[in-house]
Amino acid sequence: MLAQEMEKALNEQLKWELYSGYLYLAMAAYFEDQGLEGFAHWMKAQTAEEFMHAMKFYKYIFERDGRAVLQEIPAPPESWENPEAVFEYAYKHEQEVTARINRLMTLAKKSEDYATENFLQWFVEEQVEEEASFKAILNRLKLIKGDPQALFYLDNELKQRPLDLNLLMTQA
Ligand code: FEO
Repeated sequence: MLAQEMEKALNEQLKWELYSGYLYLAMAAYFEDQGLEGFAHWMKAQTAEEFMHAMKFYKYIFERDGRAVLQEIPAPPESWENPEAVFEYAYKHEQEVTARINRLMTLAKKSEDYATENFLQWFVEEQVEEEASFKAILNRLKLIKGDPQALFYLDNELKQRPLDLNLLMTQA
């Protein structure tokens, strides 16, 4: 059974993962509006991944005889100055998610909650990948410096990201 403090903290992270999906969907909408379909597709795939993360917390809380409680999700920003600013924002957001996962891990260790520590290990590794994938695209955008042809090629490349919606339900 989960300690009350841990249950509250896991629920807070469930909300945070849903907010991440909400934020990336706002970014997809921004790209859609800019006519950058590949970027929009990439962000929709990221949205699905964040909802999958949220479902992992949802499932784990119930597995430990806790109760998933959904909270209010704030509205994400609506637009950004340019694609580079979007990825700058997203990269900072992922760094904040990493800090939150680390704080959860510290709490699990302090409370000697080994099951939660084990559960969170997946997220510790996932965050390394998450930060790296946003940083890689951010670096490309910095090199491109708004060159329309290079942006067009990158947009085409980002269209190739697989989008597997089944991921969502297999985590529930
Ligand atoms: Fe769920 Fe992108 O961290």
